[in-house]
Parts: sequence; C-alpha cells; structure tokens
Amino acid sequence: MKVDGTHYRSIWYDTGTDEVRIIDQRWLPHAFKIVTLKSLESFATAIRDMWVRGAPLIGATAAYGMAEEMRRDPSDAALNMAWDVLHDTRPTAINLKWALDRCRTYLQPLAPANRADAAMKLAHEIADEDVEINRMIGIHGLEIIKQIAAKKPAGEPVRLLTHCNAGWLATVDWGTATSPMYHAANAGLPIHVWVDETRPRNQGALTAWEVGSHGINHAYITDNAGGHLMQHGMVDMVITGTDRTTARGDVCNKIGTYLKALAAHDNGVPFYVALPSPTIDWTVQDGVKEIPIEERPGREVSHIQGVLADGSIGEAQVSPDGSPLGNPAFDVTPARLVTGLITERGVCKASPEGLATLFPERAAA
Ligand code: MRU
Repeated sequence: MKVDGTHYRSIWYDTGTDEVRIIDQRWLPHAFKIVTLKSLESFATAIRDMWVRGAPLIGATAAYGMAEEMRRDPSDAALNMAWDVLHDTRPTAINLKWALDRCRTYLQPLAPANRADAAMKLAHEIADEDVEINRMIGIHGLEIIKQIAAKKPAGEPVRLLTHCNAGWLATVDWGTATSPMYHAANAGLPIHVWVDETRPRNQGALTAWEVGSHGINHAYITDNAGGHLMQHGMVDMVITGTDRTTARGDVCNKIGTYLKALAAHDNGVPFYVALPSPTIDWTVQDGVKEIPIEERPGREVSHIQGVLADGSIGEAQVSPDGSPLGNPAFDVTPARLVTGLITERGVCKASPEGLATLFPERAAA
C-alpha cells in the first residue's frame, strides 16, 4: 500500500544492496522508520519485540531470517538452529511454524552449497503468495460487503467494525480483514470502519492510520465501545483477522476479539473472520484448550505510550504502583460465534465441513 505516494510492502528485499528491510512498526503511526535486518538474531528480535507483527508477516519475516542464516552458514546444524531460534520468538500465530516448516522441508534435501539461493527464492515466494492470498480475500470479502450494501438505502455506508490490525502492516500487503475494505473503497462502495484501539499495544492505531491513508471513513474507538454500537444498530458487520484457526473453525485472534463476537451474536450482527490458509492449524480442534496464548510483559499494561507535546515518543504509568499485572495477548472465539471464514478460496462456514468444501485436500489428509 502507499505511504506518501510510494508503494511499500511491510517487508521487502532490496536488490541493490542485497538486504532485507522492514517497516519498524514500534513507531507507527507517529513515525515511519525503515530498518535493515542483517542477522538471524536481528530477525528474531524484530519478531519477538514486535518491530514486525501480525501472523502472516511474522511467517514471511521468519522465512527471510532463515534465508539470511543460510547465507552465513548453510549447514544442517545452522538450518535446525535457525528454525529453533525463530520458532521460539512468539507462540500463538501458527504462520511462524508454517513458514519455518516449509523452509526446512524444502532446504534439507538440498546440498548445503545450494541452500542460500534456494532459501532466498523461497522467502520471496512466501511473501508474494501472501500478497496474492490477501488480494483474493479482499475480492471474496467485497462480495459480502456488497450483499449488505444491497439491503441498505442507496448511498448509505456499510459500517464495519474491526479489532487489532489485520491490515497490510500485519501481512506483506493488502491485509486480511482490511483487504475487503480496500477493495470496497477502490470500487467506490461507501463504507465506514469502527476501529477498536486494541489495548494494550494499540494496534488499532495502525489500522486507523492505514485506512485513513487510503481515504476510508473511520472512527478510532475504545475497546469497550463495540457492544454499545452494536446494540444501537450502528454496526453492519464485524470483520477481524486471525492468528490461528483450528480445523473445526475456532478462531484465535487478538485479545478482546471474543468479547466482540459475543456482542455481535447477541445483537444479530454478522461476525466474519478473514483467514489466509497458512493460518489454519489443521492439527488442532479445540482452540480454547489447545492453542498456546502468549503472555506479554506487564509493562505493556501498566504503561501507555504515545507522542508527547514536544513530538517525542514517551510513556506514562497508568496502573497503581505495585498492582500485579496480567497481559494475555490473544483469545479464542468458538466457531459457533463465527458467521463465516473469508479465505483466498472463498467464504465458508466455521466448521470442519465448511473448511472441507474449500480445502478438500486437507480435510482428506
Ligand atoms: O500481537 P500482534 O500484533 O502480532 O497480533 C496481530 C493480530 O492479532 C491480528 O489481528 C492477526 O494477526 C491477524 S493479522 C492479519
């Protein structure tokens, strides 16, 4: 997507310098900074400390980290060590393991001398595939938005609510939940997006920055506002991303998603999840029992970060001194609360049967 007229992906390879670059998301939306990642450790730090974040982008970054390590040392030992180091960075988004497994499975049978080039080529492939997957999610999601628009008075905007940032910054490009929004805007279909702030890390600020930069009408709201808006008929559709969706359709996503799904269910508002297929964990069924939920540092809760009056970025404490802190970063929305899964192959029910209609090869495996 464009930033100040220039098209960016969230991660890219600079062919002039042979280096991998990222947008350092810790500073957004207040400052736009580009960073070069040069070593396995820098890739691991970028994922762990959330310079990059969002399930698909974490996967693509891991693939590039693996490729960088293969340039330094293409041995079997380095391949396995890189898998371990990158895999240990964050526990919940399955795209990380998906990308690392794909890299290792492809590289292991190759002679070490051929691994560096092959690994970089595969990382490019994973990044390009992600862009295409998200573009297709947008095309299928747009159909749903059009169906909702058709039931409203002509010209009235379709009002969407989203949680966290499942935008182009969370993927390589387009985003998952935002892709239908961008497609709607590009098609001239009026929409309005309620953007949850998504405490404690305020990924909603990234979403607001993204959709605002694309000229999409939106409002940045507190995390607790969604239920009220739904009760008052001010939301036509909820759409979120996901970090891991199980084979039976349970959706793990940013903390607070479950509460939005409950409110949507209680108010008859359709709740859709934009789901790229690498985010499906076919090995687990019960998301509540089986998905590891990342517990992040308490300081993210006790302190808030923002721009100070002098333009610098600073933080302030909001919790009382000494209060114990809790910071689970994700929750699981049971499949029964999900109206539909929007994948690159089309839209399906959040159920084993629904997923089998779109991914028969996986369901049979
Ligand atoms: O902790 P984050 O910022 O990596 O969490 C991101 C989310 O939960 C997104 O909503 C999800 O990854 C979908 S990204 C397309």
